[in-house]
Amino acid sequence: MRDAPAPAMNETIRALVCNATHARGVSSATRIQSLWSGYGELSRVHVEGGDAPSVVVKWAKPPREVARSSVTSDERKRRSYEVETRFYRDHASRCGPGSVVPRLLAHHEGDNEWVLVLEDLDARGFAERTWSPQGSALEACLAWLASFHATFLHAAPKGLWEVGTYWHLATRRDELARMTDTRLKSAAATLDRALSSARYRTFVHGDAKPANFCFTPSKDRVAAVDFQYVGGGVGVKDLAYLLDDVDSRVEAHALDTYFMKLRAIVGAEGEALEHEWRALYPLAKDDFRRFLDGWRR
Ligand SMILES: Nc1ncnc2c1ncn2[C@@H]1O[C@H](COP(=O)(O)OP(=O)(O)OP(=O)(O)O)[C@@H](O)[C@H]1O
Ligand SMILES: [Mg+2]
Repeated sequence: MRDAPAPAMNETIRALVCNATHARGVSSATRIQSLWSGYGELSRVHVEGGDAPSVVVKWAKPPREVARSSVTSDERKRRSYEVETRFYRDHASRCGPGSVVPRLLAHHEGDNEWVLVLEDLDARGFAERTWSPQGSALEACLAWLASFHATFLHAAPKGLWEVGTYWHLATRRDELARMTDTRLKSAAATLDRALSSARYRTFVHGDAKPANFCFTPSKDRVAAVDFQYVGGGVGVKDLAYLLDDVDSRVEAHALDTYFMKLRAIVGAEGEALEHEWRALYPLAKDDFRRFLDGWRR
């Protein structure tokens, strides 16, 4: 990742970072990227004399006013920063070594802003990125998802999205109206109901794309970031999204790998769980494609 010019950092954030890391001060900050539609920025902040050499700061500060046409997406984004904060604050500590997430070192919710001070995963050995994971890298993503889904099996998504993923039908009414695929459009509500009424529910990551996984140098272990769309759901929603553009041979192998890993963790419930989620996988694919069809118009 290329270093960009140091972003502006206000005193609240500087103090938050120094307190969280027991540092004397901040030595430098580099922008990793700006957030969606200029809604804030993500930076790597280097500190002097702290517990760790650097932290990652996700600072969301949405515009106070948006065009009428952007109200829905603005509300969705604001809620997503709130959800991500709740996830790190209230749920993430349950994630063990099989589903590594950055530690939340500090957070701040102000008037129209959300700040997360996160452990720098690069410094913990997860400094590699890949946009098209294959072989052991893909297997590592599947292992992470299996562990995450097993960890939160039957958990209530308190403070999170009742139904996770950024493409969930209830949050995508404008896209539904714009759809041209008549089969998927007329099936949309039925698909949504079938997925939502599953017996086995867990937390889905909700945006499990390769960019949100951070890999070890050998790419055989991953950690995940970006929990803005975490919430209730069936695990195969994350798989349908992660595997959207792989060929059918890789897809079939990936599903087998995922269920093998999932069943090794959940034990007795595994057989019934696999039976239900395998049957829901094609529906989860259609559900994601329902979103894509309307979003691309
Ligand atoms: N704690 C962290 N440690 C190391 N890298 C991180 C950390 N948090 C985020 N990143 C890196 O920054 C990228 C963007 O972070 P994140 O996905 O949270 O922002 P975002 O605005 O939601 O991004 P996008 O909208 O592009 O998905 C991640 O894909 C990852 O490469
Ligand atoms: Mg992201």
